[in-house]
Amino acid sequence: MSTITINDLASNDLANLELSPADMQAMGNLVVARSVAHIAALEDNPILGDYTGIEALCRSLREDVPEHGTALEALLGPLFDEWIPRTFGAPHPGYMAYIPGGGVYPAALADFIADATNRYTGVWQTAPALVQLEANALDWLRDWMQFPSTARGLFTTGGSMAMFNAIACAREKMLGDDIRSGTIYVSSQTHHCVVKAAKLAGIAYDRVRVIDVDADFRMRADALERAIAADRAVGLKPFMVFSTAGTTNTGAVDPINAIADIAAREALWHHVDGAYGGFFHMVPELRSLLSGLSRADSLTLDPHKGMFMPYGTGALLVRDGEALRALHSSTAGYLPENQSEFYDPAQYGPDLSRGFPGLRIWLTLKFYGAARYRAALAEKRELAMWAGNEVARIPGIVMDAAPQLSLFAFHLESLALDTLDAQNAATRALMDRVTARGQVMLTGATVGDRFLGRVCVLSFRTRREQMETCVRQLAEESAALLAEADVAG
Ligand SMILES: Cc1ncc(COP(=O)(O)O)c(C=O)c1O
Repeated sequence: MSTITINDLASNDLANLELSPADMQAMGNLVVARSVAHIAALEDNPILGDYTGIEALCRSLREDVPEHGTALEALLGPLFDEWIPRTFGAPHPGYMAYIPGGGVYPAALADFIADATNRYTGVWQTAPALVQLEANALDWLRDWMQFPSTARGLFTTGGSMAMFNAIACAREKMLGDDIRSGTIYVSSQTHHCVVKAAKLAGIAYDRVRVIDVDADFRMRADALERAIAADRAVGLKPFMVFSTAGTTNTGAVDPINAIADIAAREALWHHVDGAYGGFFHMVPELRSLLSGLSRADSLTLDPHKGMFMPYGTGALLVRDGEALRALHSSTAGYLPENQSEFYDPAQYGPDLSRGFPGLRIWLTLKFYGAARYRAALAEKRELAMWAGNEVARIPGIVMDAAPQLSLFAFHLESLALDTLDAQNAATRALMDRVTARGQVMLTGATVGDRFLGRVCVLSFRTRREQMETCVRQLAEESAALLAEADVAG
């Protein structure tokens, strides 16, 4: 294989950074070959990389700025052979930890095109047709979520930034300059990024009310009403409430319709966090599981979860598109004048100079077609339903949250595991032992005092085979843990 080094290419003309077409092609071939080989070998390698000595490795990687270039092969070698493997295997087919991400290959190619062609999409006039493709992708999300045609949105780097823009938008519309008296309502199971985003958007922690959940981890509508009344009674201004369409800990779907009714009655902005579960709304047969979602004033979506996109793809939809525009629209003497016929990214989001995030979604959807997406999402739910039933039958497992979408949560208990601490330790060990076997990765979550084991099926690579492995290994490791507890007891 030839060695591609910038030093050979430009040794007598240091200021020249351009590569020849042949070298660009050769570099691209190298990168594609490495990436495809990596993907093809995912299942042959342990799902959790070897973390032995990881701190020492990280210390050894600290380095001075390189004065001279290095051959591309030399850079790719350790990256693919040593550093990428020593990670959590998020793209592995057996990854059911946290909320699995995606990484469909066409999206990686779209990113390559977006970066290689490097067009500016901040302002409509600079790349009108490209911005239109991004607008189309946002319209597809809007249609799947059954939002009205007045809705507008934006692609963000993730759910957290979608949340930040939603809160800023609601705050501006509902409170104007009187920010300090505004209060927001989350549940104890709301993702922590909401409180962080609120702080960034000027809503301090002492203006966030945490509402209790019921036995199914869903926000209690009666407690929400009481909290709103209590704040009004002391002269505060309740302005925004958050429902979650699939919580991270247990997959619970809040009573979105009941919360929407309260929001309507109390004139609150209702935001639905669909970062994990929102895309199940794309599947008509599953829509009723998320009933009320399309009534939201704004909605967080995470295409890097439910649309299997690479990390760095979040989205926000806002029912009143003009409110989003009112927050972000600005002008400058050196820029083309704002126009309003076409979607214009800088008028609906905080970025001015930006890449082309919409191409990932547009190209991937055009390549696969929506039918495959619906089939894949429906399959993930089916797999979770099947596995949930199987896992519930394993001796010692207590199901705390049966699957509503594609996530379920449980813990281990037995006569010998008779304290909460013992059950928590055993459940934690169960997750760790399955993960250590290398084919399936599971993580848990502490909810209240209890540590819950979790299985979340959302990787597009997870199929029936991995689910069977997951169920079998959970059964084997549970039996081993119960036997050990009996002996110890
Ligand atoms: C329900 C929910 N909301 C919000 C987020 C935050 O999204 P992101 O990590 O894309 O910023 C997550 C992340 O896992 C989530 O599961």
